[in-house]
Amino acid sequence: MYSKKVIKYFMHPKNVGEIKNPDAKATEGSLACGDMITIYLKIDSKTHVITDIKFKSYGCAANIATTSVMTEMVKGKTIQEAKKLEFKDITKALGGLPPMKIHCSILAIDGLKTAIRNYEERHGLAKPEDLNESILRSRLRKVIDPKVGKDIVTAGIVQNVTIKNGAVRLLLKLPEDHEFRDNILEEIDERIGHIPGVKKLNIEFIKQ
Ligand code: FES
Repeated sequence: MYSKKVIKYFMHPKNVGEIKNPDAKATEGSLACGDMITIYLKIDSKTHVITDIKFKSYGCAANIATTSVMTEMVKGKTIQEAKKLEFKDITKALGGLPPMKIHCSILAIDGLKTAIRNYEERHGLAKPEDLNESILRSRLRKVIDPKVGKDIVTAGIVQNVTIKNGAVRLLLKLPEDHEFRDNILEEIDERIGHIPGVKKLNIEFIKQ
């Protein structure tokens, strides 16, 4: 059911791995299936050209093929050009995907766009949004707890979110011995720690 190109990219994926000290990084999960990818970017600070991109996949064959082809399509492009890439461009480049695998290409695009957004927020390039609880919760819904395959809001890890004068306070139900605690905390910081307007991020834990 896969095209020859999908099989080729799955068997011999390009740009797999991790970049040490990346300029931006993002982990994105698909709520459709629980698969995940992490994208690493190196970006020229003057030209904003993506000089290197790598990925790790915790997903299916189409997840690996679509993310791999996406990395080839955006390497050497500016972040503005890369943001214009759509999932349809990826499926076309791969000679099509079975309908039930279209979301794999959407995941590849989401991972790229989140990594670029993280870069923009860290470098003062992002447009400020009105900071409110619903924006924070929608960002937190993108952080997946791999242990249960659910986002941390749905999984009940986020107990409370408050904002006061730019200081964000999160109350989490996250045991110290949770297998993915460090990854979850790192992801939270990436998702909301650098939103324009967030002056401070305080994370507190419910004692269990
Ligand atoms: Fe979900 Fe491929 S089945 S990313």
